[in-house]
Amino acid sequence: MVDKRKVLITDTTMRDGHQSLWATRMSIKDIEPIAEEIDDIGYHALEVWGGATFDTCLRYLREDPWERLRTLKKLFKKTPLQMLVRGQNLVGYKHYSDEMVERFIHKAAVNGIDKFRVFDALNDLRNVEKAIECVKNEGKHAQGAIVFTKSPVHDIDDLVNIGIRYAEMGVNSICIKDMAGLLGPFTASELVSKIKSKVDLPVELHCHYIGGLAISTYIKGVEAGADIINTASLPLAFGASQPPVETLVKIFWNTPYDTGLDFSNIFDIATYFEERRKERGMDRGVTRIRDMQIFEHQVPGGMISNLITQLQQSKAEDKLSEVLAEIPKVREELGYPPLVTPTSQIVGAQAVINVLCEQRYQMIPREVKAYVRGEYGKPPTSIDAKLERMVLDDPNDKIEGRPADYIEGNEFEKAEAELKEIFNDSNNLEITEEDIISYALFPQSTKDVLTLKQNGELEKAQDEIYQELTSKGNE
Ligand code: CO
Repeated sequence: MVDKRKVLITDTTMRDGHQSLWATRMSIKDIEPIAEEIDDIGYHALEVWGGATFDTCLRYLREDPWERLRTLKKLFKKTPLQMLVRGQNLVGYKHYSDEMVERFIHKAAVNGIDKFRVFDALNDLRNVEKAIECVKNEGKHAQGAIVFTKSPVHDIDDLVNIGIRYAEMGVNSICIKDMAGLLGPFTASELVSKIKSKVDLPVELHCHYIGGLAISTYIKGVEAGADIINTASLPLAFGASQPPVETLVKIFWNTPYDTGLDFSNIFDIATYFEERRKERGMDRGVTRIRDMQIFEHQVPGGMISNLITQLQQSKAEDKLSEVLAEIPKVREELGYPPLVTPTSQIVGAQAVINVLCEQRYQMIPREVKAYVRGEYGKPPTSIDAKLERMVLDDPNDKIEGRPADYIEGNEFEKAEAELKEIFNDSNNLEITEEDIISYALFPQSTKDVLTLKQNGELEKAQDEIYQELTSKGNE
């Protein structure tokens, strides 16, 4: 008889679920009516903040993400709240100064985040050390996430070593972040056992469903010692999202790993989200043929929809398969970065341009140049020499040190001055430190939201957006 070892479940419905399937458009109004039921389930944690949610809250939902976090904290009284932090990129798409990281993490902790999942797209741990240090200083749970990817230059032991280095940095737990659903059950078993044999910390599996591996990966991963798995409520599961909680609870039911979660209460929540899904006319998570081809192109589902949008703008929708074939080439030339925000956007943008222009690399976007210069950190292996020469006028332009050390440290001060200038004679708007952080990260949409707030039109704008989102149902 195996020792009883309850599997813990973190629910990602309110972060990754809608980010993967609803273009990150879940409003706080969708969460409020069902929050108490979710809080009662006994989840290990709820991932509700960070990733793309911060940007989309401001840009599309016209919600102040900090206000949303405070509301979430009030709604979820029992279950710890988790967020996803892109290391030195925070919730943005480029590196910020250490001061910004300190202020952001502090305010996230103060406003309600208990557990911070921190990762860097390149697994360059110089880009996560500041964020992890800040989380620890706040006395909160710091989780180091290993970005799982496959390439000729990645092997299991490299990933195990990242886990060991995270442990040396003093993290409280380790996550294996499989954003493209590439981690298979047997590899997971090997990876988890090796990490567990080297590091005495809880290990969490974060897998996306896409090609269908995730459920078996969780089973073998748990058997090998993984402590926590990530799932979503059924209507926001499958496809580009996480596997459904219902299936996983059933799989482990009456085994030494029994989650202890109540099946019928979980179904009530699924029924609620199913109604929200129908109102929006959103698809369930499905795996299309091109999604199943992920094992070749490695492009996560969310990124494929971005590519389609980019191609539509150039009236070139028919070029999608060419772009999907171009991505692995660009990825190789850029030194095999894992495809996750922001490197997925960097590689994707270049691949689209390479397909649309007559000549490959005829045009190179600013972000790709920055990447080649080392502004995002150290790629897993060296960048194609020819491409490097095209980008760098002088080989000495390359940054070898920690990217954040090259950033001017006055982002906050600058943002504060600009915001105060914009709203200088406003009596009915108090600019908070949170507002300044939002503005430093996303100036235009923060300005828009604050303007609505100043004019007393914020709630009306949110209601209209909500109305629009939930009136597309066709079932
Ligand atoms: Co994810």
